[in-house]
This record gives sequence, C-alpha cells and structure tokens, in this order.
Amino acid sequence: MNVLGIESSCDETSVAIISDDILKANLISSQDFHKKYGGVVPELSSRAHLQIITPLVKDALKKAELNLNNIDLVCATAGPGLIGALLVGLTFGKGLSYSLEKPFIPVNHIEGHIFSGFLMEEKPEFPFLSVVVSGGHTLLLLVKSFTEIKKLGSTVDDAAGEAFDKVAKMLGLGYPGGPKIQSAAEKGDSEKIKFPVADLKDPYNFSFSGLKTSVLRHIQKNHPDRKINQNDLNNIAASFQKAVVKALIKNTKKAIENFDVKSVSLVGGVAANKEIRNSIAELAQKHNKKIVIPRLEFCGDNAAMIAFRGKTLFESGKRYDLNYAPFPALSENQYS
Ligand code: KG4
Ligand code: ZN
Repeated sequence: MNVLGIESSCDETSVAIISDDILKANLISSQDFHKKYGGVVPELSSRAHLQIITPLVKDALKKAELNLNNIDLVCATAGPGLIGALLVGLTFGKGLSYSLEKPFIPVNHIEGHIFSGFLMEEKPEFPFLSVVVSGGHTLLLLVKSFTEIKKLGSTVDDAAGEAFDKVAKMLGLGYPGGPKIQSAAEKGDSEKIKFPVADLKDPYNFSFSGLKTSVLRHIQKNHPDRKINQNDLNNIAASFQKAVVKALIKNTKKAIENFDVKSVSLVGGVAANKEIRNSIAELAQKHNKKIVIPRLEFCGDNAAMIAFRGKTLFESGKRYDLNYAPFPALSENQYS
C-alpha cells in the first residue's frame, strides 16, 4: 500500500510517502521568512503553502519512484493549527483523493506527533507514556493502542515551546526561539538563577506562564536598560531551560510511577532539545522503561508522521467523507 501524507498546519509544508511500512520520502519545506516578523504570520503562511504544495507532491513522488496512480490512500492534517494553513493541505488532499478515487483520512496533528516514535527503528511498546512538547501543546498521555489515548494532564497556560519562543524574544534571540535558547544555554551556567517550577494541584498538569514572567522580572530587575551581556544571557537561557526540564521531569516521573507503561516517548518540536531528550531518557532508563525519542527530522512538523497516523486509522477500519472540516484547536475534553 502506498500512502501519501500532507502536513500544512503551521509554517512547514511537508509531503511524505510510506510504501508498505517503508518511508520513501519525507520532504519538508520551512517558511523561514516569518523570522523577520518575530513569529508566524498566518496569511503569509497560507499563501506559501499554496505555492509550494504542488511541486512538493511531485518531488515526493519522484523521490519515491512512484506516480499519482500508484497512491492508494491520501492523508492530510485537519487540525489543530492555523485555519488558513490547514485549509490548503486538507483541501489539496481531498481533491487528490476525489480525483484518484482513493480513500481520504483527515489526521489530527497531535496524534501525528504522538505516534511519530513508530517512524524509528526501535518503536514504542503499548501501553506507553507520551510526552508531547510542541509550539502549541504540552500534554502527558497514556497511549494504550492506536485507538485508545487517555489524557493525564496538559498545560494550563503556555505550551513549553511557546515559553521557549517568548523567552527567546525577551532575550532578543529571534524566532523560533527553541534552538537559540538551547545553544545559548550550552555556554551558560544553569545553577546561576533559580527560576520557579510551578506546583499545581493536579500532578500531571503543567504551567509555564509563571516561569516566563519570572524571567521577565529577572531581566527588568538586573538589566533595566535591556542590555544583557553574552555571559548573563547564556546564564538566563541555561537557568530557564533547566526549569523547563525540571517541570517535564517532575510530572513524567509521577506518571511513570503511577501507571504501568512499557515505554516512554518524547515527541514534538521541543523534543529536539538536547537537555530535555537526555533528561527524559535518563529518567525512563532509571525506571526500566523503553525510551523512544524520534530523530530530529520527525520531532518538528513533518508529513511522515501524518502518513503513518493516517495509515493506522485506515487499517483500524476508520473511514471519513470529504466533508470533514479543518479544526483550529483541540477540544477541551479531547482524550478525557
Ligand atoms: O511541533 P512543532 O514543530 O510545531 C508545533 O506543532 O507547534 O514545534 C515547534 C516548537 C517551537 O516552539 C520551537 O521553538 C520548538 O518547537 N523547538 C525547540 C527546539 N527546536 C524547536 N525548543 C527547544 N529546544 C529546541 N532545540
Ligand atoms: Zn507540531
């Protein structure tokens, strides 16, 4: 079976092809021009998706040495994400499915991330604990099978990636902030400043907005003119990153202790972070759990995870019609 996947939820257009469990192509085109605006501009994002999607599909087919008539299943991200951006990939996928007379599967972007560990050689084993850390979401989930996902907790305010991006902005590092904070942190001392880790009533929920404010207060107090020398900047980045690691470890540890899981999988854009990868891996190993963290290509937004997730839904008997509408956000009670 040849599965074509399309991802266009934010600032990456991606097209992938999976042929009989083998990933034949995973092309990702990143919209770097948003950098100069300090964040993603939705309208520009939709237009850029529209320009690149047709050539990207052609290139993916070429890479996989297939043509359109060989495609048996079309999958595209339906949400959550920017509505205009989603519409481009989703509508393109529906059109393709209609003209090829092949089934169409709308895919939840978060579920793409959740199962992205299956793109690796060593795959998660059910039941597994999924730690989803992306630009828009921070979730702790108990995944029992491809169709049973239970939410243990989520962020009550900012997502982890959002906190990285906002702190990077405060430090004048630009967008996206995650990789920039990481490289500044590598040169800094994480013990220099004690930033707080939220203590919430629900042990599986996260909060990063207090941490973000406390970084701001630190800057206002110690660098009122906003001129931060490189050394201080590195220390702030390292201390902030350490607080995020602590928050993720605290909740993940509780969940490992309280639920009988076989594996732990860390996924999403923020899972590219070296410190976070190392700390979660160490925690899982300490508890004798298999750890699966996708390689960088599958951490950020990509269509390989969308094709894979769509394929599992199709194989479990799910069918959808072409009226399926895009959705900008997860519903509050999703997975509860
Ligand atoms: O999953 P993703 O590509 O998009 C969403 O679905 O949101 O995640 C993007 C997020 C951004 O906030 C970005 O700053 C963050 O992932 N990120 C990182 C790193 N690389 C990307 N955060 C921390 N460290 C990194 N190395
Ligand atoms: Zn994502």
